[in-house]
Amino acid sequence: MGDHPAPLRAPAGTHDVLWPESARWERLVAEFARRARLAGFGLVVNPMFEDAQLFRRGIGDESDVVRKEMYEFTDRGGREVALRPEGTASVVRAYVQHHPPVPWKAWYLTPAFRYERPQAGRYKQHHQLGVEVLGTDDPDVDVEVVTLAADLYRWLGLRQVDLALNSMGCGECRSVYVAALVAYLGEHAQELCDEHRERFGVNPLRVLDCKRPECRAVTEGAPRITDYLDAGCAAHLARVRAGLDELGVTHRLEPRLVRGLDYYTRTTFEFAATSLSSAQNAIGGGGRYDGLAEAIGGSSSPGIGFGIGIERLLLACDAEGVFAVDPPLPEAFVVDVTGGTSARSLCAELRRAGLGAVRAYDGRSLKSQLKQADRSGARYALIVGAEELAAQIVTARPLRHEGPQEAVPRASVVDWLAVRTTTHTKEDQ
Ligand code: HAM
Repeated sequence: MGDHPAPLRAPAGTHDVLWPESARWERLVAEFARRARLAGFGLVVNPMFEDAQLFRRGIGDESDVVRKEMYEFTDRGGREVALRPEGTASVVRAYVQHHPPVPWKAWYLTPAFRYERPQAGRYKQHHQLGVEVLGTDDPDVDVEVVTLAADLYRWLGLRQVDLALNSMGCGECRSVYVAALVAYLGEHAQELCDEHRERFGVNPLRVLDCKRPECRAVTEGAPRITDYLDAGCAAHLARVRAGLDELGVTHRLEPRLVRGLDYYTRTTFEFAATSLSSAQNAIGGGGRYDGLAEAIGGSSSPGIGFGIGIERLLLACDAEGVFAVDPPLPEAFVVDVTGGTSARSLCAELRRAGLGAVRAYDGRSLKSQLKQADRSGARYALIVGAEELAAQIVTARPLRHEGPQEAVPRASVVDWLAVRTTTHTKEDQ
């Protein structure tokens, strides 16, 4: 036994999601897809890895995501590639590459890889549901995108959700603002945290995002970007806020909200679950990135989107005790004590008719099969023994409600079950 290798485990910071927990994922993704489609979005599927330059140029060399967290490697052909740390850069790269008609509205489900210190709600591989709209800077699109996320949280049953909204301005007003911020931070440099005391000049906006108490105390009194917006950016923000108000999407203006990715311009937003601890309570965020297409080599084209972290969203659901999904149960468990061929054909027929059918394998005893049938949660056990086979019938035994066992002709058992399960489905699930 000495050479038996130790069982391998999933890497720290990654997770396996098994049934029935994954039933929530299935339901969530289906509902998100449905809502995205209703709003005119089509699914986009991008590669999991890209030329590392895409993320450096798109997200920003100085962002934590690129500087500290990217999974980069040189492949066997000597190319520098990176696993996608988020969804947006790839979607915009695909837009630049393929020139789809505008406005281009795409939704996605993607794993995202970030080399972070794993803790509750922070993983090395997480999963995002997201949307991106390219080719328009109409503030109504901003309203539409924010509302899509807000409505999904409501549908899930979440009530403790805080929506913070800000504008990062455009290139012009932001540079005036950043100069004012740098001057202010310079005056308070000694009070900043260890990381930002030296580095605040490299990416001053990042200081506003710093959660350490020293930096928070300093940024409390820092100049606010909302006081520096030019007329166009201010009007854009006002239109977005008015639209959200009109649709009943409660939000608050948070001038210190700068997100961790450097591509944002104008509208930025973040949804926080106040039921979760504050370090990992962002359950979705996004914003406009009107310069991103150009930054990665395309022609200038505005865009906006969001990403929702599925794991965190489900943690927030648990914290509020909502979105418990009962995994769908099979209609039938076929018990076959004649050798398995009846189970094989009957299961296939039932499934072809759209009815969930499961069975046992390996020639189990009647007792063992009935036990499995009970555990399966199936509505009926359809039993085929020697007598049934000879008489060309199936014994149907209800498993989830009181009722007599019935002898059903083999030839009509599929129809028999179809009628029973469509009428019973609602009441006992
Ligand atoms: P992000 O804020 O970096 O934005 O990530 C979006 C969401 O993913 C977060 O709100 C959070 O729920 C989840 N998330 C992020 N990092 C982790 C992690 N390490 N572990 C677990 N969950 C995590 C973006 O990625 C942008 N691409 C969003 C966007 C789309 N902006 C415009 N369009």
